Amino acid sequence: MAHATYENVTKRFDTGTESVVAVDDLSIAIEDGEFLVLVGPSGCGKSTTLRLLAGLETVTEGTVTIGDEDVTDEKPKDRDIAMVFQNYALYPHMSVEENMSFGLQMTTELPADEIEDRVTSAAEMLGIPELLDRLPSALSGGQKQRVALGRAIVREPAVFLMDEPLSNLDAKLRTQMRTELQQLQNQLDVATVYVTHDQTEAMTMGDRIAVLNDGKLQQLATPLECYHEPANTFVAGFIGSPSMNFLDLSFHPERGTGTGDTVEYGFTDEQTERIRDAAASTHDTITLGIRPEDITIAGDRGPETIEAHVDVVEPMGKESVLHLSVGSHSMTSLVPGEYDVEAGQSVRLKLPHDRIHVFDEGGDVNVFDEGGDVIFNRARETESLPSGALL
Ligand SMILES: Nc1ncnc2c1ncn2[C@@H]1O[C@H](COP(=O)(O)OP(=O)(O)OP(=O)(O)O)[C@@H](O)[C@H]1O
Ligand SMILES: [Mg+2]
Repeated sequence: MAHATYENVTKRFDTGTESVVAVDDLSIAIEDGEFLVLVGPSGCGKSTTLRLLAGLETVTEGTVTIGDEDVTDEKPKDRDIAMVFQNYALYPHMSVEENMSFGLQMTTELPADEIEDRVTSAAEMLGIPELLDRLPSALSGGQKQRVALGRAIVREPAVFLMDEPLSNLDAKLRTQMRTELQQLQNQLDVATVYVTHDQTEAMTMGDRIAVLNDGKLQQLATPLECYHEPANTFVAGFIGSPSMNFLDLSFHPERGTGTGDTVEYGFTDEQTERIRDAAASTHDTITLGIRPEDITIAGDRGPETIEAHVDVVEPMGKESVLHLSVGSHSMTSLVPGEYDVEAGQSVRLKLPHDRIHVFDEGGDVNVFDEGGDVIFNRARETESLPSGALL
């Protein structure tokens, strides 16, 4: 059963001089106990989407439900939700304990001992029972964030809503809190909608990811589906780090090739057929996508190889990032750290047939303008460990 839903929800802000469509005909069903991440670039409508579910913004068109109930016109306090913000929003003059219990005292009829029990058990779950008497000013960023989470947990809501809750923390603490938050969510088993602009957080935390751009849902799928089977060039470029490379090529069905400046890439017969069926008459432009980690350095020339110039080598230890030029295109690839390669050198790259993605023409050269739709994605093989491998 879906736990909360957006059904064809649109949100328009009218500022007097202009009308901004922040959320555009969005439909998502959040499942019981699911950790759903809303991800996308700044201004794509993530916070607005979350606030619509919280009731902090009114819906222009469409329906919002929580637990099978239409809450589109309900006030925030009448929706069974708890929200955690980026800036914690703790009351500075109240102790940790008071911060955590205040909401329950104000908005529920719960007896004092029940409130105390909930605060104590949330504090224990978050590892902060010794901080209950402190004021927020005497807490570190990570501790404040735990208190803000605690305040949400004690409400025992039907849905947790979190808007970039970790972005004020330093990188190391963020990684640690990421894991803690995931474990906590698992333990509580409460549906959670989590907003971030960080694709790594989205990949590592989400049961599913909703990728948004320009107020529109681009893809709703598991992290690995978004990585292996991106729906369009926007998702392909947004999910994965470093980003997927794109080459705009003219497609020649009769030769089974894609050509661009300095590039002639040979597709397999099957790929040629699929591109021809999906897109293209002669010389249509297609976009070939390949992830940096899927490129290898080739010995011999072949249909899958292209020539590149090495502009910069960034050694990271285990691997090095190569910044490359292919004609006028920039590309990135990852090679093993011990690989002997220098800036200024020419290299031959192999873009293996079973690793490439092909999209129909992505509008402008800027692939982020209009996501070209996928023609095919890389073959996705699943490998399982040989039985007994761990024994
Ligand atoms: N109250 C408002 N009035 C007018 N426009 C608004 C209002 N709130 C948001 N917007 C616009 O709606 C769009 C989506 O904003 P939103 O805050 O949802 O983006 P976001 O994805 O959360 O971005 P960020 O990652 O920067 O927080 C933006 O273009 C923004 O300028
Ligand atoms: Mg936001």
